[in-house]
Amino acid sequence: MNRASNPGNLFLFGEHAVVYGKPAIIASVDLRVRCQIKSLPEKEIKISSRELGNAVLKRHKRDRKDLFILLDLCKDILSQFKIQKGVELKIESDIPVASGLSSSSAVLCSILSGLSKLFKLNIPNKDYYNYLIKYQRVIHGGRASGVEIISSAQGGFNYISFKPGLKIKKLGDFPFRVVIGDTGIKTKTSKTVKEFIPKLIKKRPLFTKRCFNKIEELTKEGLKSILEGDILKIGKLMTENQKILAKLGLSHPKLDRGVNVALEAGAYGAKLSGKGQGGVMLALVNKDSQKRVAKAIKRAGLKVIQTKIGVTGVK
Ligand code: MEV
Repeated sequence: MNRASNPGNLFLFGEHAVVYGKPAIIASVDLRVRCQIKSLPEKEIKISSRELGNAVLKRHKRDRKDLFILLDLCKDILSQFKIQKGVELKIESDIPVASGLSSSSAVLCSILSGLSKLFKLNIPNKDYYNYLIKYQRVIHGGRASGVEIISSAQGGFNYISFKPGLKIKKLGDFPFRVVIGDTGIKTKTSKTVKEFIPKLIKKRPLFTKRCFNKIEELTKEGLKSILEGDILKIGKLMTENQKILAKLGLSHPKLDRGVNVALEAGAYGAKLSGKGQGGVMLALVNKDSQKRVAKAIKRAGLKVIQTKIGVTGVK
C-alpha cells in the first residue's frame, strides 16, 4: 500500500465572492484526508471510505452513483497516463463531512496524490487545479472557484486572484492559532453556491454586487495586514467579512452565536468559513485567548476543534 494525504481548508477572506472572480485568502488546516492505494492487475477501481461508503467500477459499470465522481477521477487519470491496471483505495478523513472545511477538495486531492505516488506520475502541486477543477464543479453543482484545491495541494496561506488570469501568491508561514466551531448543521455546498447566491443575484443584483465588491476590498486589505503581520487588523477585517456574509444571508443563528461569543472572549476576529448557512466558523486567537474562546464557543453549543492553519499540502 502507498499512502498520501492532503489537508482541509479555512477561508480567512473571500468565500462566495471568489466564485465571481474576486480574490480570496485561504489557509490549509491541520485536519487531513488520508488515502491508501495499491494497484490491481485487472482494470477495476475499488474505493472504500469510512465516511463515504464503498464503490466499485468494473467494465464501465459503477455500483454507487453518489461516488461516481471519485470513480471517474481514478478512471480518467489512469486513462490519461495510459496505465493498464486497476486500483484499490482506502480513504479516511479527519475532516467532518459537509462542514465547510473543504473535505471534498481534500478527498479529490488525496486521490490524485495517491495515484501520482503509486504510478510515479510526479504531478506537481501547482497542476492539481487543472486536473481536479472539473470534478469540484460537479460537486458544487456547476460552479467552483477551485481555490480549495489549490490550498489543499500547496498548503500554507495563499492569496488567490483571477483577474487577469489565475495568480497564486504564497504568503509564507504564520503562527496563527484558530478555534473552529462546528454547528453540526450539514449543508451541501451546491445549496448555497448553485441555488441561494444565483437566486439572490437575480433578485438583488446591485446589492450582491456591492457586497462582493466590499468583500474584495476587505480581502485586499487583509493581504496587506497579513504581509505586515498586523494580527489585530486581520481579525477586524475577518469580522467585517463575516458581517457581509451575514447580510448576504449566508450565516446562521448558531454561526452568529459562535462568532459573537468568540469575540466577547477575546478572539482577534471570527467568521464563518466556506459555503455557510451551517457548517463551521473560525476564530483567530492567540495563546492567551485560545482556551477562553474555545470554552465560550463550546458553551454556545458548537463542537470545538482547536488546531493550526497553514500546514503542508500534499504529503
Ligand atoms: C465553498 O467551500 C467555498 C465557496 O467559495 C465556493 C468555491 O470557492 O468554489 C463558497
